[in-house]
Amino acid sequence: MELFGKDLITTQDWSIEEIEALLKVAKELKKSRFKNRWSNCLEKKTFLMLFYNPSMRTRESFECAATELGGHAQYLETKSMRLKRKEAIGEEPKDVARVMSNYGCGIGIRILEDSINKYGEGDKLIREYAKHAEVPVISMAHDKYHPCQALADLMALRTRLGNLKNKKLFLMWSSGHLVRSWSSVQAALLLLSRVGMDVTLTYPKGWDLDGEVIEKVKNNVASAGSGFEITHSLVSAEGADVVYSRNWMSPLRYQSSKEEEIELALKHKDWICDEQLIDRTNNAYFMHPMPVERGWEVTDEVVDSERSLIYEIAENRLHVQKALLALTMGER
Ligand code: CP
Repeated sequence: MELFGKDLITTQDWSIEEIEALLKVAKELKKSRFKNRWSNCLEKKTFLMLFYNPSMRTRESFECAATELGGHAQYLETKSMRLKRKEAIGEEPKDVARVMSNYGCGIGIRILEDSINKYGEGDKLIREYAKHAEVPVISMAHDKYHPCQALADLMALRTRLGNLKNKKLFLMWSSGHLVRSWSSVQAALLLLSRVGMDVTLTYPKGWDLDGEVIEKVKNNVASAGSGFEITHSLVSAEGADVVYSRNWMSPLRYQSSKEEEIELALKHKDWICDEQLIDRTNNAYFMHPMPVERGWEVTDEVVDSERSLIYEIAENRLHVQKALLALTMGER
C-alpha cells in the first residue's frame, strides 16, 4: 500500500484499505514505541505546522511523533507571519505552500472557526495549500474535519470493542461554554459510520451539523450495512455501546457572537452525559476529543470512570500521527 506523498484532509478521501494500512502501523508503533523499523524514517526531515488557532494535544502529539521518528516538527503561529488571514492582506497560500515544500517534508494546518468568516472557508484554504504544495498537507483540525482525531477514536474503540460492525454509537450535543467547531464530531461520524457502527446523532433543535457531511454519513452506512438516525432526545441513548458527548456551535455561530452562542447553549443545561444517561446504555464507553468541560459536557463520575476512553484516545493521537508521518513522509 503506497501512501507516500498523500494528503490527509478528511478520511473520506482515503480508501478503507489505506486507512487500515495506517492503523496497522499505528498499532505496531503503539506496541513498540521507541524501537521499531520506523524509528529513523524522518531523519533530517521537518514537518512544518501552521497554527491559525491554539492547540495542546495536536501540537504536542505531532512534535513528539516527529521526534520519535528521528525528525522534527516545527510550530509556526500564523499571527507571527505575514499570511493572508481573515480581514488581513498578506501572503497567498499558493506562495506559502510552494516555499514551505522546499523546506519541510510535509505541512500541517489548523484553521478553526475564529480564524474564518464563514463555514467552509477553512476547508477551502487547506485544499488551496494542498493544491500547490509539493509535499503532503495534513489537516490538524479545520472547520469541517479533524481526521487525526477520528483515527485515534477508531483505534481506541477497536481496542475495547473489537469489530465495530453494528455496535451502537450515541453521539450527543452537550451544553457548555466551549462552543467548539464541528470538525471532531463530523470526522468521527464519517469514519465510524464507514466501519459499520450504527450511529445515533442527538442534539436539541437548532444545532444541526453540515448537511453535506450528513449525506455522506448516510451513504457510508448504506455501504456498510449499518444504521443512522438523528434524534432530538437523550432517551435514544438506550442500548448504546459508546457515548460521545461534545458541545458544538450552532449554524448561527458565524452571524452571532460567541457570547450569544454560549447563552443559547446554557439554556440546555440538562444536555449532559451523566450516570443516569450511562445507566440507560449497554454499559457504554465514554469518549470525547478533549479539551473537556467537566460539569457541563460530562460529569466527573462519568469522565473519571473506568469506561472513559478520553486519555487513551488522546494518547492514540501520537500513534496514528506517527504512522501518518512515517507512511506519507518517511522513505517510500
Ligand atoms: N483534540 C484536540 O485536537 O485537542 P487540541 O485542541 O488541544 O489540539
